[in-house]
Amino acid sequence: MDIGAMSRGPGQAGARRGTARAIAAVVLTAGLAGAGTLVTTTEPAQAATTGETVLSVGTASLSVGTALSVSTPSETGVNCRRVKCVALTFDDGPGRYTDALLRSLAAYRARATFFVVGQNVAAYPGIVRRTHAAGHEIGSHTWSHPDLTKMPAASVRAQFARTDRAIKAAIGIRPKLVRPPYGAFNATVRLQARRPVIMWSVDTLDWRYRDSAKVARKAIRSVRPGSVILFHDIHPSTVRAIPKVLKSLSKRGYRFVTVSQLFGGKPPRVVYSRG
Ligand code: NI
Repeated sequence: MDIGAMSRGPGQAGARRGTARAIAAVVLTAGLAGAGTLVTTTEPAQAATTGETVLSVGTASLSVGTALSVSTPSETGVNCRRVKCVALTFDDGPGRYTDALLRSLAAYRARATFFVVGQNVAAYPGIVRRTHAAGHEIGSHTWSHPDLTKMPAASVRAQFARTDRAIKAAIGIRPKLVRPPYGAFNATVRLQARRPVIMWSVDTLDWRYRDSAKVARKAIRSVRPGSVILFHDIHPSTVRAIPKVLKSLSKRGYRFVTVSQLFGGKPPRVVYSRG
C-alpha cells in the first residue's frame, strides 16, 4: 500500500477546472458501453488464450467470454493533446477484486494502468494475462513492495529484474513503466529502473478511507485533463468506487487512457501528470 506522504503531485491546484465541456467522443463511449456490460463471466482460460490478438468491436459483442480480452483500436488512437484524458492507475495487485474492476472498465471501454507487485503476479498470472489482454497497461511495482530508497543498488535491481521475469512469464513482454512503492525514489532507484518512473497527481487515499463514496468523490473533484490518479485494486471499496468515477468523468468528456497513451507512447523519465 502506498502511504500518502509523497502523494502531493503538482496537479492539486486548479483541480476543479476543466468541468462540464461535453465532447462528442463521450457519446461514442456511452453508446458502446452496452457491448462491455453484456459480458460478466469471462472464463480465465479463454481470456488467456487471446493474448494480444486484436478483434473488432463487432466480434466482441458476439463472442461471450472473450470481450474482456479485446483491444479496442479506437481507444489506442486517442490524442491526449486534443481531448481530455485521464490515466487511472491501480497499484499493489493483482488480487481477488481485480476481475470485477476489469468488468467495470470494459463497460466504459476505459483503459487503465496496473502497477503490479511481482509476487502477486507469480501467484495470479491469469489475472495479469486478462488485464493485459483487455488492453490495459502493466507496470512494475517491484517484487515485494519495499522502500527502494533504503536498499543498495543491487537489491533495487533485483526487485525490478525478478518482477520483469514474472510479468514476462505472464504476458510475454517486459513492463515499460515502473512505480516505486510509496512513491519513494532517488537517483539510484531511477538508474536501476531504467524506465520512466510514474508517480501521480491525484491521490485518492483509498487505502486509508476504504469508503467508496469518498474515494469516488476525491477522484471526481480532483481530476483535471492529464491527471494520473492513484488507486489500489486490492481494496473492494476502491473497486466499488470505479463505476461512479467512470460514469461521472465520461459525462464530463474524459477519455480513460493508459499512462503510455497519455504521453503518446513516450512518457518522460519521471511522470506526475501530463501538462
Ligand atoms: Ni503500493
